[in-house]
Amino acid sequence: MLEVRIADPVTFVIFGASGDLTRRKLLPALYTLFAESALPEKFAIVGFARRDYDSHSFCALVEDALRNHSRTAVDEPLIKAFCSHLSYHCGDLSDAAAYAGLQARFETGDLPANRLFYLSIAPDLIGRTVDSLSRAGLITAPHSKVWTRVVVEKPFGRDLPSAKNLNGVLLDHLDETQIYRIDHYLGKETVQNILSFRFANTLFEPVFNRTYVDHIQITAAETVGMEGERGAFYDQTGVLRDMVVNHLFQLLCLVTMEPPDGLEASSVRNEKVKILRALRLAETAEHHPAACFGQYGDGDGTKAFRAEKRVDPQSKTATFAALRMEINNWRWAGVPIYLRTGKRLAKKTTEIAIQFKTPPLALFQHVACQGDVCDVTGVKPNTLIFRIQPDEGIFLQVSAKRPSMQMVVESVRMDFSYSGKWNRVLPEAYERLLLDALRGDSTLFTRSDEVEAEWAVIDPILAGAAASGEPFSYDPGSWGPPEADAILFSNVWKNE
Ligand SMILES: NC(=O)c1ccc[n+]([C@@H]2O[C@H](COP(=O)([O-])OP(=O)(O)OC[C@H]3O[C@@H](n4cnc5c(N)ncnc54)[C@H](OP(=O)(O)O)[C@@H]3O)[C@@H](O)[C@H]2O)c1
Repeated sequence: MLEVRIADPVTFVIFGASGDLTRRKLLPALYTLFAESALPEKFAIVGFARRDYDSHSFCALVEDALRNHSRTAVDEPLIKAFCSHLSYHCGDLSDAAAYAGLQARFETGDLPANRLFYLSIAPDLIGRTVDSLSRAGLITAPHSKVWTRVVVEKPFGRDLPSAKNLNGVLLDHLDETQIYRIDHYLGKETVQNILSFRFANTLFEPVFNRTYVDHIQITAAETVGMEGERGAFYDQTGVLRDMVVNHLFQLLCLVTMEPPDGLEASSVRNEKVKILRALRLAETAEHHPAACFGQYGDGDGTKAFRAEKRVDPQSKTATFAALRMEINNWRWAGVPIYLRTGKRLAKKTTEIAIQFKTPPLALFQHVACQGDVCDVTGVKPNTLIFRIQPDEGIFLQVSAKRPSMQMVVESVRMDFSYSGKWNRVLPEAYERLLLDALRGDSTLFTRSDEVEAEWAVIDPILAGAAASGEPFSYDPGSWGPPEADAILFSNVWKNE
């Protein structure tokens, strides 16, 4: 059960109400919030799209979406109660009359006055839609009694100029405090736990720096390829825009940023921006490249990326990236930060591994036996792992003496797993983020300067990838192309 109930009456307008994201994520999240009494007593959900539904048939779509995707049990009375808050507004985003119709509903008091516009629409429609909302008088002034908030989905631009342009359009009509750029990774419980783990304990923070940390690895591996209709979108987007510039950079920021002076949005975002401004692709010798890109080939029963539906058969789009990054600041200078992510990899996992330096004195490296002191090879450096998904938890690898008459040291793992400790289903990222947007808490959303700083880092890497020509091919079910190993000076990824 959630402990928070939104007080303000609100109208939640979903632009793109008939789309995939709405069905799979937004409606199930809203339904769970409703079931857990987190939504205000007075709320309305308005679905906006072109498809020819009325409120009744829209409710049937909602029910179907919930039956397929909701983690909360779908029972008749609850669905009925949920549907009593729903309505459908049929319209085209380019049609001023559609916005006027919506505005009329607010003016007549048919809908609660506070409004959250969720733009679950293609990125190229966002600017125009905000412009039209503004022209129709649907955006209230910042900090006024009746509030307006706009949630914008990723991807936020394609590069720095387009992100700046989109920020410009949004900020022409909205104040930064009214804009919620969503990166759903930040809604994951384990991602938020990085901050509490680092800053609510005195034990770890003193060793999070270049004196003690050897390197950091951030992995977001997926086993899926281009299921459904994703091919066309992904072929245009590629791994750097789909995963690195947003999700991986956000994880990197949380694990390396300085302690904020408070938990309010501006303090946390200020620290993240400082990291992004100091972040860059590592400078390495020519025979040790800092970036490697791959594209999956065909496998046992799976198609090569180029043979996927709606993908260009000559596509050079990378579906895998391995990067060696560095943060040019006092705390992290000289510490390599390895990022890797891709489709059709060996297993589905997202984790951050912080590997500490080996102890300065190799006390336990001798193999000779003397009396009962013997053979103590295999001491591994301490590693702290934040497992984001699956099996969410935090693990610390330490060396310990194996019970025996001899001094044999081996690596053991100290575990903290969410399922072991709390035995409850973790909230979905969208549940947390929608709730935060409704509460007006933007800490877990990306600010305009933050998003621009992300693109400023990735743009030269994108240019480098384009200049390097074809990505290397890799086998589905592998850890990417063998060439990716060359960006590492140690075989840090080989121990899996
Ligand atoms: N799907 C995901 O898993 C996912 C994940 C992360 C981010 N996103 C982002 O979320 C957004 C939506 O993605 P999606 O996958 O849900 O897309 P989608 O399935 O293609 O849905 C697009 C929606 O926009 C509506 N639409 C398009 N043109 C319109 C127009 N001229 N007037 C009114 N409505 C219009 C469509 O409804 P009608 O055709 O009925 O008009 C449909 O409801 C995109 O920005 C995407 O990048 C999606």
